[in-house]
Amino acid sequence: MLPGVSDQRVVALLGVGVVPADMPILRADDLGAVRGDGIFETMHVRDGHAWLLDEHLDRMQRSASRMELSLPARGGLVELVSQALAPWPATTEGGLRLVCTRGAEDGGDVTVFATVFPVPESNLRGRHQGVSVATATLGFPAELRSGTPWLLGGAKTLSYAVNMASLRWAQSVGADDVLWVSSDGYALEAPTSTLLWRSGDTLCTVPVERTGILAGTTGRWLLDHADELGWSTEERMITPAGLATTDGAWFTSSVRGVAGIRTVDGSEVPYSTDLTGRIRALLGYP
Ligand SMILES: Cc1ncc(COP(=O)(O)O)c(C=O)c1O
Repeated sequence: MLPGVSDQRVVALLGVGVVPADMPILRADDLGAVRGDGIFETMHVRDGHAWLLDEHLDRMQRSASRMELSLPARGGLVELVSQALAPWPATTEGGLRLVCTRGAEDGGDVTVFATVFPVPESNLRGRHQGVSVATATLGFPAELRSGTPWLLGGAKTLSYAVNMASLRWAQSVGADDVLWVSSDGYALEAPTSTLLWRSGDTLCTVPVERTGILAGTTGRWLLDHADELGWSTEERMITPAGLATTDGAWFTSSVRGVAGIRTVDGSEVPYSTDLTGRIRALLGYP
């Protein structure tokens, strides 16, 4: 066990600080628990800090606005993150989840807490060995969510049951991850990752506003630094079959970092260990 870290996990509550990791912290009628009514962010913990904290807090504020949820003041959230990270060894890579639920059913304050946890083995495997991907339809056209605010496109809500079911289904058909596809045949994103691909010297990704996918912080950072790999960037639409004709495709996400896509529905996608390693190094993941 890591020193000062209970069960390899830290739990901290807003306004309270670190509490025992096995202490109950929610009321039975917390709307986050009973309706998935809340938002969260997951960040990469490196060198004792949460990487891209500002970008994650910006996105959390956007999610809160879409959900009409009153997020506590930013200073309090920053303090909570730093309290949660204090017992975590700076040399240990990890993930930090910051959660804000709508609170108890009969009203009152939002519930806010943070947890720090080790990077799952499966994430490290995907990061270093790549992933096989199965496509799964979301059942609606690519641009539907640009005009349907109640579907909460672009908000990182706690309602991730469909995301997790998609990943379980992928495993049941022998794949490591899922590529969600629209009913009109476009690749969108993965249940916990952003899709990027290389076409010649252009690094591409799916447009966020048009499709209602989540604006990935890791993918955004990589696109903003793509010139360091000699690439320009563009937002484009692509079909899953089109990925086989690219010069490489990746999923990016905060904790796994980058995972090269090896196959989509069994068809090979160009995969380079060397290039994926260069992207991983640029992103600063071990
Ligand atoms: C649906 C979805 N898309 C993309 C991402 C990647 O976002 P980020 O790079 O900010 O972790 C996530 C992260 O969990 C996600 O849940």
